[in-house]
Amino acid sequence: MPSVEALISLNNDADIHSATEDNGLLEQFSKTRQQSVDLCRPLEIEDYGLQAAAFTSPPKWHLAHTSWFFETFLLKPFCKEYTVFHTAYEVLFNSYYNAIGKQYSRPQRGLLSRPTVNEVMKYRHHVDQAMHALLKVAFHEHYSERKEVSRRVQLGIQHEKQHQELFLTDLKYSLSKNPLYPGYSSIKNTSYQGEADLLRGSQWVQYQGGLFHLGADQDSESFSFDNESPAHQVYIEPFELSDRLVTNAEFQVFIDDGGYHRPEFWLSDGWAEVQREQWRQPLYWLEDEGCLMEFTLYGEQSRSPEQPVCHLSAYEADAYACWARARLPTEAEWEFAAVQQGQGESISGQIFQPIPAENNIHSAQLKQLYDSCWQWTSSAYRPYPGFKVGAGAIGEYNGKFMCNQWVLRGGSCVSPANHLRPTYRNFFYPRDRWQFSGLRLARCI
Ligand code: AVJ
Ligand code: FE
Repeated sequence: MPSVEALISLNNDADIHSATEDNGLLEQFSKTRQQSVDLCRPLEIEDYGLQAAAFTSPPKWHLAHTSWFFETFLLKPFCKEYTVFHTAYEVLFNSYYNAIGKQYSRPQRGLLSRPTVNEVMKYRHHVDQAMHALLKVAFHEHYSERKEVSRRVQLGIQHEKQHQELFLTDLKYSLSKNPLYPGYSSIKNTSYQGEADLLRGSQWVQYQGGLFHLGADQDSESFSFDNESPAHQVYIEPFELSDRLVTNAEFQVFIDDGGYHRPEFWLSDGWAEVQREQWRQPLYWLEDEGCLMEFTLYGEQSRSPEQPVCHLSAYEADAYACWARARLPTEAEWEFAAVQQGQGESISGQIFQPIPAENNIHSAQLKQLYDSCWQWTSSAYRPYPGFKVGAGAIGEYNGKFMCNQWVLRGGSCVSPANHLRPTYRNFFYPRDRWQFSGLRLARCI
């Protein structure tokens, strides 16, 4: 492989004709890297190191780890001239890749007062520059490993987008532990204008089911994670889905009906968790001098009845569905419905809080598929038939987590743009509540 310097000059020369189209990859890379930095704009310096629980990571760690990913999976293997920014970072910012080597203890990430924010930003810059050079090399027509590099860059970009969402969900959790309830953002964009009757009953949308092609074809042009493949046929019985998510008001009725005190609605593991954690309401619900409030990324806000209920564990979602004489959809049912609907919904931008469904009664369309809360399904996060864990460290990305977790579908108000699709499989442990996780009801017909 030519050196980075050689290639930069090559690209500046007349030789530019032999460069092949990179399909906007470099631009996508730069944009995504910049978005991570932009997310930090509202932060105070004190916020960068916050880690309120072992399952969250500090903002600074996310910024470094996403850079580590490009360094580890692209620069080190494909860029001979690359000099690492700091040798200790290989361990500090390795999340869980055993094939790479040791990892700094996850629950102690908040103790990493060094490197400083400044140094982490320099690290990002160092990685970005080298990545730019590598990409210029990779899209030169004589470069033999273009396909693999391009595939990994796409993975790195989508990985960084996943961390942009985790950045916000982790930060929300950490900020919520401060009794001053600091907000992440102070500008609440309330541009949405709900129709009058937002608390109408939801509509059931019916689906015939049948034989369905579940999952993503891995050799297709567009990106998907390995866990969305192999695509395969499944048979789906007729079913119906609610056209919108369950709201705070509806969840309140479940609570008022003794929902958290009646074991008959709960899975055994869920009931045990309710006892152990003394759960009585969704995470972030608050009461302040008799007013119903919740903690949001805008700080403490009044809790609006028509907003989708959010920050539920799968156990709570499942218990609610049981109480409502319905059930959670399977992931195949969810995808079946989402594929029929097409892309449709776009992420509305910068509202870091789920917003109510619009009330257009005759649409027979599912609302809040991607832009509100992730939707718990009843499906276990297990490999699709024929799934093979990829070779090497990169194979640890998704495959080794296919045990004891549940699948969530859709997306949330803190998901980044250009990241979601009908086949996307998100996954968390059923007790996890700190993601923007809600539910959509399903029933057999
Ligand atoms: C798909 C969101 C469960 O949180 O570990 C980040 C995303 N994978 N780095 C996670 C991920 C590798 C993953 N989730
Ligand atoms: Fe990661």
